[in-house]
Amino acid sequence: MSEATIKLAAMEDRFSDDPEISYTLAAPYYYDEALFRREQERVFARSWRFVCHRTEIPNAGDYTTLEVENESVLVIRGKDDVVRGFFNVCPHRASQLVRPGSGNKPSVITCPYHSWTFGHDGALRGASRCERVKNFNKEDFSLTPVRVEELCGFIFINLDEDAAPLDGMAAGLGDLLMRECPGLEDYTLLARSDFDVNANWKAIIDNFIENYHLVLSGPEHKKFADLVCSEEDQSTIRTHAAWSEFVSPAGPADNSAYQWATPRNLGGGNDFLTMHLFPDIGFVMFPGVNALSLFYTRPTGPETCTLVTAYYGPPGELDEATKAGVHYFSDELSPEDIELCEGVQRGLRSRAYHQGRLMVDAERTGLSEHAVHSFHAWLRSSLQG
Ligand code: FES
Ligand SMILES: [Fe+2]
Repeated sequence: MSEATIKLAAMEDRFSDDPEISYTLAAPYYYDEALFRREQERVFARSWRFVCHRTEIPNAGDYTTLEVENESVLVIRGKDDVVRGFFNVCPHRASQLVRPGSGNKPSVITCPYHSWTFGHDGALRGASRCERVKNFNKEDFSLTPVRVEELCGFIFINLDEDAAPLDGMAAGLGDLLMRECPGLEDYTLLARSDFDVNANWKAIIDNFIENYHLVLSGPEHKKFADLVCSEEDQSTIRTHAAWSEFVSPAGPADNSAYQWATPRNLGGGNDFLTMHLFPDIGFVMFPGVNALSLFYTRPTGPETCTLVTAYYGPPGELDEATKAGVHYFSDELSPEDIELCEGVQRGLRSRAYHQGRLMVDAERTGLSEHAVHSFHAWLRSSLQG
């Protein structure tokens, strides 16, 4: 047991199932090696992980890989238009089949070592000299499948073959996304930014799902508070089985974050909306911005992660407000948020800190930290499961 785990076991845990009296997750959850490994096994290896949008692999043979939990997963579209997932490892002598990244394998996937070939369905097609090998059955050496599901065109994989289906976990989320973005299945990637962050991935998610800091932190956030209506009685938080949502009406078109002349024209409203799907995926809609933003992490260690922000919208030229919004969020607000999260990470190891009090109000106003409580409760129960 690590020192931090021992400290955790020895201290009173003031997390409560009742959000109104609860404290946060204890500090070691954000830096302890052993807890991080447990989280990889119990949380990430059993959760639905975002890969890409279906329009990022549109043609037969298009593939991409996802590096997660010490595994490489290959996701490939077949000639039958079905998207399948496989562990990116050759069943002969374990060579990685394709280099991490994206590309196209028009007919077969060929192992770089002894050139065994596999169809898009994972079946072994050819293995040189296999007819000379006693009792060799090609059927025994298919690629090992990984579960794949789509949510509104977004492709997810799960390493756990017994995991609950994504559409059950996210019940209601898909409907909400489709109501706000009709035609979402055909959206394309418009822009993407990757940030290397010196913070545990949960510090990023905590920050993403609370708006308490909106009017109280740095200058870019104060601009943001001008963009959305920050009257607490006009914004709401709802939590569901494994996801939460925050909604607030848009503030004025003429604000200090970015200018938008007309409301969003995607087919839904113009509210500021954030949705968090456990464990680490966020969807965001900004006033006047004709794009759906995705926000997700790739943990790289107990105290580091990569944060990805990606924008998906109808194909075509970006309008000025969308360009201005994407610029503001990627280049102005996100760096300020990252600095806030890294400041938290620097404080978490202090012997003066163990757990903080969640700022939760009974009315579940938009400024309440209710969604943080739900996130911490889901995390704790996943770690125990
Ligand atoms: S390791 Fe792939 S063909 Fe030998
Ligand atoms: Fe923020």
